[in-house]
Amino acid sequence: MALSYTPETESPEPDDAPGRAAFLFSLRSMFAPPAFLAESAWLEHIPFAFWTVAALRPQTVVELGVYNGPSYFAFCQAVAELGLDARCYGVDTWKGDAHAGLYGEEIHQRAQAYNDAHYSSFSRLVRSTFDEAAPHFSDGSIDLLHIDGLHAYEAVRHDFETWLPKLSDRAVVLLHDVNVRERGFGVFKFFEEIRRERPTFEFSHGHGLGVVGVGALQSEWMTRLYEIDRDADAGRAVRETFARLGRGCAEAFEARRWEEAAHKLRRALDESGAQLREASAAREAARGEIEAARAEGRRLGAALEASAREAAAARTTQAALAERAEATEAAFQKVRAALSETEREAIAAKAAAEALETRVLARLASLDELRARLREAEARRDAMADAAAEAGAQSETRVEEIVTLTKLLGEAETKAAATRRELDAKKPVEAECGTP
Ligand SMILES: C[S@@+](CC[C@H](N)C(=O)[O-])C[C@H]1O[C@@H](n2cnc3c(N)ncnc32)[C@H](O)[C@@H]1O
Repeated sequence: MALSYTPETESPEPDDAPGRAAFLFSLRSMFAPPAFLAESAWLEHIPFAFWTVAALRPQTVVELGVYNGPSYFAFCQAVAELGLDARCYGVDTWKGDAHAGLYGEEIHQRAQAYNDAHYSSFSRLVRSTFDEAAPHFSDGSIDLLHIDGLHAYEAVRHDFETWLPKLSDRAVVLLHDVNVRERGFGVFKFFEEIRRERPTFEFSHGHGLGVVGVGALQSEWMTRLYEIDRDADAGRAVRETFARLGRGCAEAFEARRWEEAAHKLRRALDESGAQLREASAAREAARGEIEAARAEGRRLGAALEASAREAAAARTTQAALAERAEATEAAFQKVRAALSETEREAIAAKAAAEALETRVLARLASLDELRARLREAEARRDAMADAAAEAGAQSETRVEEIVTLTKLLGEAETKAAATRRELDAKKPVEAECGTP
């Protein structure tokens, strides 16, 4: 929702308390809902931040001490939604201090990311000490300065005095924690001192916020605010209204936190529901398993009893077996003795057998020799028989030849005798012829 701005026209001249307060409330931007909420002690002053920006229409806004950013981004929101031609600077080391405590990098990262996403066209986060940042601002240039760093008296005084030359002639300074009086906070003391010299207004709610008119040329709206306490009722109405509106911002943050917590719880509840369903299913399954286990238990019990019975029987059997074993052992010992004896006899028998075998082998060897000799004799005999047969055959042939020859001889002798007779017959003739 855009902030509405009531221009600084001719101001009415309210002459009663409600009229004076209502005049201030005519800057309706104070009723806008905050866009950025985060953990902070400043939330209850967000409506007044909207109002101040509308009342002052600053060109340069500086905040010393940004931390999570609710105050700084409230100024930025007003600048953006009122369409002001302004520059905003948030200075912080984003390391923390003795009062805020030390914190991690994620605080700066979140603030930077939000600034980049929403206000980078006119807003810059300056990560440095306040003192290091101061020289980078021109004298007389800052219209709205919010001091919210370390809250010790010396620190606030130092910050105020360091930045004083930078303030314009219409500048307004806001001091947070003017209503804290413990843990070494000294803003209230510094505010008491400064309010003696300058126009101021003080809110007590939300740890207290001091408004100081520093420049000589304060706007009509700011002047009305500084002067509102001239009428106690009007001052109370202003304080109550801003306190109530501020409470709304704090409650919105609380509500958001509760919503987030509720969301987380819902998620956790859903998860728990799912887990419960899983657990129920698991329980059902477990029940089934238990039933099965019981049945198995009963079966095992029965088996156990049977086993016990068997074991008793087995023990009896075992005793009997032990007895038998003893008897067997005794018998075994006997057998073993007999066996030893037999073994000895066997060894002797084996020795005798070996000797016998040696003798038999010797006999067999001589038998083989005899057989060999026999085979040789038989071979000689067969050879001789063959020779005799051949000789017989030859002698028969000789006989036949002799017979033939004898026959031929007879024939030859016959012929010779015949011849001789013939010759004899012829011999006288030859002798007569002289033939030799
Ligand atoms: C109380 S917190 C600011 C709260 C913030 N304005 C809000 O809206 O919640 C103070 C911050 O000032 C910063 N701070 C304190 N002294 C500082 C110094 N001298 N220079 C820079 N930062 C400083 C710390 O780091 C811390 O983040």
